[in-house]
Amino acid sequence: MNLTLKIWRQANAQDKGRIHTYEVAGISEDMSFLEMLDVLNEQLNELGEEPIAFDSDCREGICGTCSLMINGEPHGPEVTTTCQLHMRSFKDGDTITIEPWRSSAFPVLRDLCVDRSALDRIIQSGGYISANTGSAPEANSVPVPRDDAVRAFNVATCIQCGACVAACPNGSASLFLGAKITHLGELPQGQPERWSRVVDMTAQHDHEGFGGCTNIGECAAACPKEIPLDVISQLNKDLRTAMRHGH
Ligand code: SF4
Ligand code: FES
Repeated sequence: MNLTLKIWRQANAQDKGRIHTYEVAGISEDMSFLEMLDVLNEQLNELGEEPIAFDSDCREGICGTCSLMINGEPHGPEVTTTCQLHMRSFKDGDTITIEPWRSSAFPVLRDLCVDRSALDRIIQSGGYISANTGSAPEANSVPVPRDDAVRAFNVATCIQCGACVAACPNGSASLFLGAKITHLGELPQGQPERWSRVVDMTAQHDHEGFGGCTNIGECAAACPKEIPLDVISQLNKDLRTAMRHGH
């Protein structure tokens, strides 16, 4: 495939940035989207030009590091991560626009890389459980109803990629926050800190400059892990209960 790529270039956080157009040839439909960008970067290296900065780590859909807005959609046209998106989703001759996540809580650092440490600080504020050190307890000593375990595991698949924020017109991280609250709140081990967790994590979310949820649903549509919208209902329900009990 031969492709035209319109890519956001920005030298640093202070630079205004702009779209540059590149032509790339000889792209196989079996390549991943990031391998296609690797090919372009090799071309730029050979020309003595600065390669395009973008984030990736596992390239297996697990780490949540890759984050590209592709033709206006976070992670592109399929329900998957950018690293697991393949070029067979595009056609020879296509023009593809590639930008970084756009959200005021995710400042652009360089080209396609943004600072997503705001999500780490939300986790630090309460996205954990406290457990005694020592050997692991016998697994069957804490019974967990099957439905609760399934729901906790399903929402624990959130990889903290930030696509939900990038998709949301309000720049809200409510789907991410709801996934974490639900994951820990469904399990017995998450109960001791349940109410302080939801208050502290929500306060940190707001402090970081993420917007409020107005039930638009773009987040769930963009999520590569198909986290359902109802985790936001769980978040609001837990927050109301916590406030009622004076947390
Ligand atoms: S909820 Fe989905 S889109 Fe949001 S951070 Fe988690 S995996 Fe990414
Ligand atoms: S590089 Fe790890 S999820 Fe894409």
